[in-house]
Amino acid sequence: MSTYHIKNLEEYFQVYRKSIRNPELFWEEIAEEHFVWRKKWDKVLEYDFSKPAIKWFEGAKLNITENCIDRHLHIRGDKTAILFEPNNPDEAVQYITYKELHKRVCKFANVLKEKGIQKGDRVCIYLPMIPELAISVLACARIGAIHSVVFAGFSSTALATRINDCEAKMVITSDGSFRGAKTIDLKGIVDEALENCSCVETVLVVKRIQSDIQMVENRDCWLQPLLDKASEVCEPEIVNAEDPLFILYTSGSTGSPKGMLHTTGGYMIYTAYTFKNVFNYKEKDVYWCTADIGWITGHSYIVYGPLANGATTVMFEGVPSYPDFGRFWEIVEKHKVTQFYTAPTAIRALAKEKLDFVNKYDLSSLKVLGTVGEPINEEAWHWYNDNVGKKKSPIVDTWWQTETGGMMISPIPYTTPTKPTYATLPLPGIQLALMDADGEEVKGNQVDGRLCVKYPWPSMARTIWGNHERYKNTYFSTFENMYFTGDGALRDEVGYYRITGRVDDVVIVSGHNLGTAPIEDAINEHPAVAESAIVGFPHDIKGNALYGYVILKDVGESRNHENLRKEINQVITEHIGPIAKLDKIQFTVGLPKTRSGKIMRRILRKIAHNELDNLGDVSTLLNPEVVESIINNRL
Ligand code: PRX
Repeated sequence: MSTYHIKNLEEYFQVYRKSIRNPELFWEEIAEEHFVWRKKWDKVLEYDFSKPAIKWFEGAKLNITENCIDRHLHIRGDKTAILFEPNNPDEAVQYITYKELHKRVCKFANVLKEKGIQKGDRVCIYLPMIPELAISVLACARIGAIHSVVFAGFSSTALATRINDCEAKMVITSDGSFRGAKTIDLKGIVDEALENCSCVETVLVVKRIQSDIQMVENRDCWLQPLLDKASEVCEPEIVNAEDPLFILYTSGSTGSPKGMLHTTGGYMIYTAYTFKNVFNYKEKDVYWCTADIGWITGHSYIVYGPLANGATTVMFEGVPSYPDFGRFWEIVEKHKVTQFYTAPTAIRALAKEKLDFVNKYDLSSLKVLGTVGEPINEEAWHWYNDNVGKKKSPIVDTWWQTETGGMMISPIPYTTPTKPTYATLPLPGIQLALMDADGEEVKGNQVDGRLCVKYPWPSMARTIWGNHERYKNTYFSTFENMYFTGDGALRDEVGYYRITGRVDDVVIVSGHNLGTAPIEDAINEHPAVAESAIVGFPHDIKGNALYGYVILKDVGESRNHENLRKEINQVITEHIGPIAKLDKIQFTVGLPKTRSGKIMRRILRKIAHNELDNLGDVSTLLNPEVVESIINNRL
């Protein structure tokens, strides 16, 4: 039996049991046999969930890029590491070999050093899905700088918040990006953000769309001339296993975004191990994850996990609908993709189009299909299984979070029998618990509860950058001695898990985690808005969409409501980004509140879901009459 590559269900159960009996030994064997360390650890794990303090492989020294690049050079130096498929199908594909990736990462790392970036400095990366995005991430890791990638769909305000929170010294961006038939002025967004960021000393600019942009003297530099001059030699900075690797922001149910901090050693082995098993990865495979590196999925399963396994990982710059809705399948055929990993929202959008878009391509290379980011509904699961996988490629429905760093619950293909809408079983090393409202663990099967994890795993986030207290309160205070995920789940009669959705005020829209409070804060800045409350409601393609209840300052507001709706969405776009726009905006005279003044979102959610039968007892509200008025005017 190989612990590192599970091949059947019996092996899974054996490996799982071993991982629970002695987690330290389990992860130690994997770390020892499959990775390059400059110095071994003194202790595998030390933890205390009450602080919380979690340390894996304390005392070990390594560089993650040595594991992701250098060690492959003599065995697979000429193998493609990154296969770049541009937005425009007529533009040449780039096949970046491990040797070339090594050279490009070293050169980039030397540019960072020349610009004064040192170990521990934060570098904000705001780039489209072009090779420089992966390369700059790896270049930071090469020298021990902490990367903070911000998804290039976020607005200048959202970008500025993230830059300031981690006090980034440098921003890496491009002159713009291609997105289908459109171009986006990324540099303009960065310029606007930097009006409010005094910490940034340097902006490196990648030339991608050849647009005419303004360069600020003594701050902005074109990347290419610096790369041309840089040496190809850059010895990796040797860091401690617990040194930070990156910060990645995720929405919380309240307040500012949370900068989840991931460290090096544990993150590396966990993402590599899960990549290998969940995708049943083999040496000649061509693996494609359609996520953006701006999200955790891209960090763990486009960059680090695949490269640590010496895989070929596809990076796609474009969108599924350009030049037409067959683009994904065209790429699968063109590169003979073997594993394809995407989000339910993309599947639902493509399932709405003619089947011809799928059927005209040869998808026989596919061996494993994956989904991530939100629950996949049964209809989408079957469409994916029937039309893309032709019923021969297992679907791995992978449940995990920015905070968990890697996949936590997922089938292992050709091993775990799949079941539509179920993420199935915990991966080795993951000890789950379902908790009831009284803080008791719900044992047995055919039960549900709040999903928690009882024991540390190597890739868990170690803190929230600059706010350890918030880390403790959000994840470790709801249930004693447990990590609380914020999700609800059920366990069926055989022990399979199904995620039922968030139990807090986070709504997953098209797979993007959106806290409602920050959006409400943004809307409330509109001069006409007095107060607002946002809830999610089911949406055919996006999974959930946002429904806003808005009280205007001037109730008799004579302005056209349609225009106001547009303005409110414009404010959201400016503060957060277009992904957070509201699908429905209902103007109302009041919001249902408790006597202590707390908005009863449960009622608003029910109304948005059109579930009017069981609103519960509204008589104890401060303003019960408002409920009827909201119902009568619902959209
Ligand atoms: O609610 C769960 C949902 O996405 C949340 C995490 O979002 P984020 O940190 O942005 O990471 C997404 C990519 C890993 C979770 O708390 N979620 C993620 N995957 C699934 C899911 N819900 C159901 N099924 C999944 N497979």
